[in-house]
Order: sequence, then structure tokens, then C-alpha cells
Amino acid sequence: MENLKKQIFEFKTKLKSSLKNIATQDQIEQVRITFLGRKGTIVSLMSAMKALAVEDKRIIGPLLNELKKSSENLLAEKKQELISQQKQEKNLHQKHFDVSAYKPHHLESSLHIYTRVIERIETIFISMGYDIADGPEAETDFYNFQAMNIPKNHPARDMQDTFWLNVPDMLMRTHTSGIQVRQMQKKGVPLAVVAPGRVYRHEATDASHDFMFTQCEGLLVDKNISMSNLLATAKTFLQELFEKKDINIRVRPGYFPFVEPGIEIDFSCPFCSDGCSVCKKTKWIELMGAGLVHPHVLQASGIDSKTYSGFAFGFGIERVAMIKYGINDIRLFHSSAINVLKQF
Ligand code: DAH
Repeated sequence: MENLKKQIFEFKTKLKSSLKNIATQDQIEQVRITFLGRKGTIVSLMSAMKALAVEDKRIIGPLLNELKKSSENLLAEKKQELISQQKQEKNLHQKHFDVSAYKPHHLESSLHIYTRVIERIETIFISMGYDIADGPEAETDFYNFQAMNIPKNHPARDMQDTFWLNVPDMLMRTHTSGIQVRQMQKKGVPLAVVAPGRVYRHEATDASHDFMFTQCEGLLVDKNISMSNLLATAKTFLQELFEKKDINIRVRPGYFPFVEPGIEIDFSCPFCSDGCSVCKKTKWIELMGAGLVHPHVLQASGIDSKTYSGFAFGFGIERVAMIKYGINDIRLFHSSAINVLKQF
């Protein structure tokens, strides 16, 4: 009997401690099953009582009944306590619910670097009065080569390895220069256009060459256009592009069949004054081919080359972006490397 009394006492303390850290109704149910369920502790205490003498049963019986009742009350109280606690938490949560602070986790998108750089280039030239022009990527031999003063079998064709199409005289354009003639034919002169677009070269790829890349072509035709107009335009463009007033340009002779004279324009490194890795310690960066439009090109476009003259230039858009943003591999532009894309 003493043993049973002890167990009754322990029952209470165990029940209380089991209820202490309870947080859900499910956990309360588990405790109920353990202590008061059909196979629970209280049932086994009751069956242990059967072995007692009658007078002991008279003492233990009421004790067990009382234990059962008070335990049921304890559980009921705990249940109630949990319900009101959850209600309170919900109220508090709703009270402090700030719709504007809600930020679900989502993938962010951004403009591709091409879009950014091309928009920047276009904005600068639009501010100088240029229009934006476009042309087909699958081009004819005429516009890509012949009208650009590169006749069939001319060795200058080797300068631009070509993807020929299975259609006679059709190719993937090797440069955006052909847009010059299309624009002059379409709009006549005077004319000022820039034409950014994809070009294709049948070349092995490496960190600075790709079989597909983008160029920006520029053309201005009017009366009395000279080399000084070209140089002033190139310099202004570069100063705007790199947001630096003290950028200078230098000119070297360069051969391009569609301009005469043809030049290559370098600009002073915007990142250093005494040589760095971008300018390869030379303080100058090569960027564009340019020159005065060859009379043959004007004539192929139906423009009177005695009255009109013009300048043209072309440069690689990836090259601009690589210099401006410190990108070291041209192939990254067409890759889906998310760690690169995410930076723009
Ligand atoms: N089309 C040339 C190229 O792909 C670039 C170029 C050079 C464009 C001189 C021009 C120019 O308009 O005058 O390499």
C-alpha cells in the first residue's frame, strides 16, 4: 500500500512536469494517453489496487479517484491556457503585420550587359543628333562586301572570315558596315546614324574572339565633312562613355577598303596615367576603325561623291563593355553564367 501511495504522489509530479513545456494540443493529447488513457498509468494503478486488502482499498480508492479528477482538470486547464496563448500570439502578430515590410524571396532579373552598354552608346549618339539604324544579320554579298568597296576575289575579304549560307551570295554579316549603304539608299543624305548589331566570323574562339559578337557602326554624310569632324565626334563619344573629360585620342593609319584615308583610333587609358593592366602598360587603348567614306561606297549608295563626303567608324561593343566593366573573357557575354549575369 505504501508503494501505491508513493506512486500516486509521483504520478502528480510527473504529470505536472510533463505539462510544463508543452506547446501544442497534440502534445497534450500524448500526455493524456500516457497518464489517463486506457493503457495509461492511472489504469495500471487502479488494477494494482485490486490486490489490496479491503481497508486499504478504502483509503487508496478515493485517492485514485481524486487523482484522476485533478489530473483531468490539470489537462483541461493546460488546454485552455494553450488556446488563449495562441490567440494572443495571433493578435499580436496581426497587430504588427506590416504589409509594406513583406518581401517574399524571389529571383530578381536585371538588364543584360549588352542592353546596358548599347543603350548607353545609343543615348550618347542620340544626344549628338544621330538616328539608330538596323539591318539584316543574314546579308547579301552586295551589302556586306561589294558595296563596301570589297569586290569578289578581293584579298580584303580574307580580313573577315565569313559564314556563307546555302543560298547563293548570302552570308551572315561579318560587320555592321553594310548598314551604311542600306541607310544611304533608304534615307538619302545628309545622314547621321549609328547601328549596333550582331556580326559573325568564322573564327576559332578564345578570350578575346568569338564567332558571334556585336559591333556599332557609325556614319555621318553631309557637305564639307572632314577628318576633324570624325576626330571630334570620336573624342566626345569616348569622354561621355567613360564619363571623363580628360580622355584624349590618337590616330594611326589603318586599312579598311570602305574608307579613304582609313585610320585606327586609340584613346588614353581612363583608368591610369602611367600604365595599368587594362592598357597593358601602354597608356593607350585601341578601340575603333574609322575614316572618310570611300567615294565608291557613296556611289554604290546613289550619293553624289563630288558634293557629299562623310566619315564612318566601327567598334566592338563587347570590347567597350570589357574595358568599362573589367570583363576578361568575351565568351561570357553569351554564356548563361549566372554569377556573371547577376553582377549587372
Ligand atoms: N567594319 C570594320 C570591322 O569589322 C570596322 C570599321 C572600320 C568600320 C573602319 C568602319 C570603318 O566604318 O570606317 O572591323
